[in-house]
Amino acid sequence: MILVSKEALALKVNKKHGEKAIALTRKLGVDNKKLRILKEEQFIFVPIRRSLREEELKRIEQQLEDFELSYNSFLEKKNQPQTLDQLLEKKLPAELIKILPRSIDIVGDIAIIEVPRELAPQKKIVGEGILKIHRNIRTVLAKAGVVNGTFRLRKIEIIAGEHRTETIHAEHGCKYHVDVAKTYFSPRLSYEHKRVATLVQKGEIIVDLFAGVGPFSVLIARKNKEVKVYALDINQIAFEYLKDNVRLNRVETLVFPKLGDARKVVGEDLSGIANRVIMNLPEKAIEFVDVACRALKPEGGIIHFYSFLRSPDSMANLKQRFTESVEESGRELSRFLSTKNVRATAPYQWQVVLDAKIS
Ligand SMILES: C[S@@+](CC[C@H](N)C(=O)[O-])C[C@H]1O[C@@H](n2cnc3c(N)ncnc32)[C@H](O)[C@@H]1O
Repeated sequence: MILVSKEALALKVNKKHGEKAIALTRKLGVDNKKLRILKEEQFIFVPIRRSLREEELKRIEQQLEDFELSYNSFLEKKNQPQTLDQLLEKKLPAELIKILPRSIDIVGDIAIIEVPRELAPQKKIVGEGILKIHRNIRTVLAKAGVVNGTFRLRKIEIIAGEHRTETIHAEHGCKYHVDVAKTYFSPRLSYEHKRVATLVQKGEIIVDLFAGVGPFSVLIARKNKEVKVYALDINQIAFEYLKDNVRLNRVETLVFPKLGDARKVVGEDLSGIANRVIMNLPEKAIEFVDVACRALKPEGGIIHFYSFLRSPDSMANLKQRFTESVEESGRELSRFLSTKNVRATAPYQWQVVLDAKIS
């Protein structure tokens, strides 16, 4: 291994607090794994990757009696593996290296991967490898089934790291407390959450029919101060996280979580009030088009309708089905404002969205 010297910011502590300082920088995800820790007389210098944020400094102050931040010269481990392939090339045969997971979903400090069947006996090695390469990750989960059921959950298995499925995920400046085993959350919808939030106009009333832990509702409220968002979900656990996230992001006066079946809640409480309705339940949204139409104001509004599209079905067919459902509920479709593919969800299957103006 070739060693060269590099300047970096470091946490300087008395040697007797060394272990604590190292653990703390790891926990905060600021430890610099490319550099070696430096020991000098009674001090050790733990290199960090970046300057510390105020809340991180506070945590360090709470846990270490005495510390300093200083710049020092550290030895660099030049040949440290940068990718999972490099890290595992001596541990796994070439044919397994080829099928290592290429895409990792990161939710907070949890990584979620799909392990191909042939790699299943080695999944722990893969999980440990991901922990080594991605220093901010504390837990690695393997998907153990497809998303299904009313609550849109999938079975998962903890394959490495801390035994937990709960975390805090940051998205577009918001924080979401989420349990990836008990509530639906996908970081792959991040762009969609932002796209819809930026379409909202001042003073709008929005009904988020299938809100989950709140990534549409909370972001809309954070971006648009004079809105009212009703956020519905049928999953009691998702509803608890939703309430928590409303508090966490300080939008209690703008977002109103409601527990229950969207059909029932709208029927009892939210008829004829909305400028905009979000229908992110792709598997079943078509069955709720009448509910969305009922939530809209008498003069109409906008529906963001999500669906899955499986080849050979087409966008044109989907638009036709949506239009018929709108008409069956006694409303009229003015026009489609936009139609697009959100993401591929399986071979020959996509999640798509129709933005529709209803009169
Ligand atoms: C695909 S998730 C979407 C969550 C969220 N909108 C997001 O982007 O992460 C759909 C959510 O709808 C909820 N759900 C399913 N059926 C429902 C119903 N009839 N009424 C209200 N919520 C429902 C599920 O519990 C789940 O949290």
